Amino acid sequence: MQATANGIQMAYTDDGAGVPLLLIHGFPLCGAAWSRQVAAFKNQFRVLVPDLRGFGASPATEGPVAMSRYAEDLQALIQHLALEPVLLAGHSMGGYVALAFAKAYPQALRGLVLVGSKAAADTPEAAAARLALAERVRVEGASVAVAAMAPKMLAAGNGDAAMAAAVRAFMAPSQPQGVISALLGMADRPAATPWLDQIRVPTLVIAGVDDALIPPAEAESLAAAIPGAQLALIPEAGHLVAFEQPEAFNEALRGWLAHPSGQPT
Ligand code: MLT
Repeated sequence: MQATANGIQMAYTDDGAGVPLLLIHGFPLCGAAWSRQVAAFKNQFRVLVPDLRGFGASPATEGPVAMSRYAEDLQALIQHLALEPVLLAGHSMGGYVALAFAKAYPQALRGLVLVGSKAAADTPEAAAARLALAERVRVEGASVAVAAMAPKMLAAGNGDAAMAAAVRAFMAPSQPQGVISALLGMADRPAATPWLDQIRVPTLVIAGVDDALIPPAEAESLAAAIPGAQLALIPEAGHLVAFEQPEAFNEALRGWLAHPSGQPT
């Protein structure tokens, strides 16, 4: 599906019916990285999976894209589809976007799921590395970012070549300008840490125990800082935990969806 939202073309999938569950991919991935959650949850929820601008089938735009701009895009899609408040899950950069969304549009949110993500801003070194990667992408193309990121998506001990190839396929459509825009946006993003205690929706934080890109300690910090948040650490999973260990991931998500406030109802 394609929508015009916030002045851009946004590609998205829309499966099932019921409470909207909006899944936001990380960098430099696309919505297809959530395929194993669409399959598992479309019988119970309306599962919506956009490609952020510049990724998957959504065209890129010029200039840096702040996390708050991606959040605006999501809010525009929500309004375009006239959705009731959503359950919003974001992986990694998608988690940064989900946090920006939670800050800007709390009334549009029913629950928050942060996957392999964190609240801190980039250190100066990390921001400089992103700018250097953005420059290399400008000169050499998006494959440079794919080569940098793909090997870090799965647990180090995961030798599944087909799964590794699938991860690269999620990154293949990323456009150079989309990758550059996201790198500049991430480098400049503000920390969410100062306002995490103001989040008022039920929240689940999930991470792979073997995540080498964003260590699970970040998930522990997020869960400790967000009132009432639940934490699920998934063994034998790296950064792309939802794709690498879908059964354990989906079980954690399903359990939380059944009792988001932690209390069986
Ligand atoms: C992602 O998977 O979205 C990225 O690892 C996020 C980041 O580089 O901070």
